[in-house]
Amino acid sequence: MPEAVLGLSAFYHDSAAALLVDGRIAAAAHEERFTRKKHDSSFPANAAAYVLEEAGLVPSELTAVAFYDKPYLKFERLLETYHAFAPRGLRSFVSAMPVWIKEKLFMRKMLRDEMAKLGPGKLRFFFPEHHLSHMASAFYPSPFEQAAVLTLDGVGEWATSTIGMGRDKDITLLRQLDFPHSLGLLYSTFTYFCGFRVNSGEYKLMGLAPYGDPESAQTRDWKRLILDELVDLRDDGSLLLNMKHFDFATGLTMCRDKDFEDLFGIKKRLPESEITQPYMNLALAVQQVTEDVVFRMAETAKKLTDCENLVLAGGVALNCVANGKLLRKGLFKDIWIQPAAGDAGGALGAALAVRHIALGRDRVRDSNPDRMQGSYLGPVHGEGYVLRVAREHKAPCRKFDDFDALCRETADRLAEGAAVGWFQGRMEWGPRALGNRSILGDPRDPETQKKLNLKIKYREGFRPFAPSVLAEDADQYFGLKGVPSPYMLLVAPVRKERCKPLPSGYADMEMYERLYHLRSDIPAVTHVDYSARIQTVHKDTNARYHKLISAFKEKTGCSLVVNTSFNVRGEPIVCTPEDAYRCFMRTEMDCLVMGDYFFDKKDQPPWEEQGDWREDYALD
Ligand SMILES: [Fe+2]
Repeated sequence: MPEAVLGLSAFYHDSAAALLVDGRIAAAAHEERFTRKKHDSSFPANAAAYVLEEAGLVPSELTAVAFYDKPYLKFERLLETYHAFAPRGLRSFVSAMPVWIKEKLFMRKMLRDEMAKLGPGKLRFFFPEHHLSHMASAFYPSPFEQAAVLTLDGVGEWATSTIGMGRDKDITLLRQLDFPHSLGLLYSTFTYFCGFRVNSGEYKLMGLAPYGDPESAQTRDWKRLILDELVDLRDDGSLLLNMKHFDFATGLTMCRDKDFEDLFGIKKRLPESEITQPYMNLALAVQQVTEDVVFRMAETAKKLTDCENLVLAGGVALNCVANGKLLRKGLFKDIWIQPAAGDAGGALGAALAVRHIALGRDRVRDSNPDRMQGSYLGPVHGEGYVLRVAREHKAPCRKFDDFDALCRETADRLAEGAAVGWFQGRMEWGPRALGNRSILGDPRDPETQKKLNLKIKYREGFRPFAPSVLAEDADQYFGLKGVPSPYMLLVAPVRKERCKPLPSGYADMEMYERLYHLRSDIPAVTHVDYSARIQTVHKDTNARYHKLISAFKEKTGCSLVVNTSFNVRGEPIVCTPEDAYRCFMRTEMDCLVMGDYFFDKKDQPPWEEQGDWREDYALD
């Protein structure tokens, strides 16, 4: 019988399941992809059922089940926090406690009951700590025998950040920063104040920062204000938040609006309202502070471990701007980041921690240097499923027996300006689409960005899209210095010779004028500060995607395509061919490629004839 460890994360946000079989990651998936509820936090029943099915196992065959945090410790943190801040937190205490007492304190029983629904079996449960789960998710799948481990997030039980040392199958904790002093919660507070959603809008705040003016007195003053008034940042990267200004420990929001409004002299931005320059400057100021903290913590990690490699996880590790700068600082020779760095990734980390630490097993050594398998760890749907969708929707499609010909056809359409849904193989693990559930476009075309934003994603996004570039050609376009970025977690500058100078009066232009200004020969993927969020595409982890981009290169001379996730606003990334076809029909996407099948929009039955599902699929 194989040794099988199931990892689960749930009940906070982004629940997920991951399965290790004899130390290899057999499968991993986010629950939201199955339930179609974005950031679904319920027990990951569908994801768990899927990972078991993928490995051909039933619950009774599991060696262990690992849950990504310790509920009792978390409860202790809540109680002690309320006690320390009493009577300030009464309102939040009253609303949180019934949930805790009813559900979370009886976690073991609840997990047992939920697992029983998947099948009978006497299960052994483990509860590794939240940050140990993050550390394990960063270190064990990395290519390193030894590495400094840095985790940064909002909060788990007590820890908000840890520094450790990974060596072979052991992880040693060297430093820990505790709640309420948290870089993640500081960043989330500004996410909230700038009018974005906490736990998902942090990406937007990061994308807004390049619009900030680094030379302006306002940005400089605000950075100083954050460091003088809100954060006591020490040389070693540890920090103390001045809790007088924050509400997250005891309240129901991140900060008191009035207090922050007095401090910064601007109103809290209303969601969806216009974004003016002061919010861009504030986003930049807090991004700069975040980078300072990350750099100092990384320096401390270097000092404590003397390792040349660094691994990262925790929600703050999704800050690819900070990651890119950290890499270019050269403090570490190599950096590896868990693609599911947020709490969903805790499912994988928990399973890895149980296997290597609780069960004492060695790490698997095999010839594949990427233990994450390119992060293509989700469900695959065969030809039969695609054909059924085509039949049920009376959707004409063409089968290509020659995949090279399919790539040439797709590349031709991309070069003509088409938006192409590209659906292949196993679904991605982690928040990014990496070329198996992606919508693609031509990066050279100045119209691509507008088209994808308005006609397909139904949003006026202010962030450029990400490029998927052939790994071997990446250095011709970006300052990555040969470092792979397979999970789209590094931002690097577009090479100078590809950039165009800014026109006079640029600083006074409106946000979207600045965004749509032609600033390089790959405008759809170049941000206003001439940076790009890069995915390097490798032949050995995604041969089909690599082939498609190669065909595009052959046609156009350009080694990259625009890659945005296959979904519309407010919806999780598509999982099945059915999800993909619906998204294709509901948007102005021009073509859809699923496996070997090519669907052209102009051949499809009109929208009015698409049947009952249209109503359920109305956009928000
Ligand atoms: Fe976390």
